[in-house]
Amino acid sequence: MAKNATPRYTVPGVELKDAGRLIDVLRLRLHALNDLHLTLKHVHWNVVGPHFISVHQMIDPQVDRVRDMADDVAERIAALGGVAQGTPGSLVSERTWDDYSIGRADAIAHLGALDVVYTGVIQDVREAIKEVSPIDPATEDLLIEQLRALEQFQWFVRAHLESAGGSLATAGSHTEEEAAARGADLG
Ligand SMILES: [Fe+2]
Repeated sequence: MAKNATPRYTVPGVELKDAGRLIDVLRLRLHALNDLHLTLKHVHWNVVGPHFISVHQMIDPQVDRVRDMADDVAERIAALGGVAQGTPGSLVSERTWDDYSIGRADAIAHLGALDVVYTGVIQDVREAIKEVSPIDPATEDLLIEQLRALEQFQWFVRAHLESAGGSLATAGSHTEEEAAARGADLG
């Protein structure tokens, strides 16, 4: 992760060193969102099986929305006086999570794995909100709005994995592979 992102100018009312902290936090959020929309497209392309069309079609609006979120985060970084680092090499070298691990697989397996992906992204957004909250309400507001949308998308994913009794087929899974295997039992 980039350190010392202190800019030469920033938005009025925010100290330069605080702006540097915001830019650091947003840099990883930008990586997470760029990773997520690429991963969602990967699922859109590689899902197979009887639930193909519903999952294939459910994913694209999420791709579009997550791309917009990345754009909003990148432009907030720029407004704060920082560099919006959007290159794939810096994403891969600075991210704190592994690449999505499922290739061609049925819909329920991918949705189980996506549930784990969304959990990781959402937990990290909540941590980011705690960090920016004492410094800048505008950045906090941006992240809160994104958190709400990401949680809605995770609900769309989880609704496919839920039994009529209300339990999640993937409950307790900590890895994409584990969640995909438990989801496959449901399918
Ligand atoms: Fe497509």
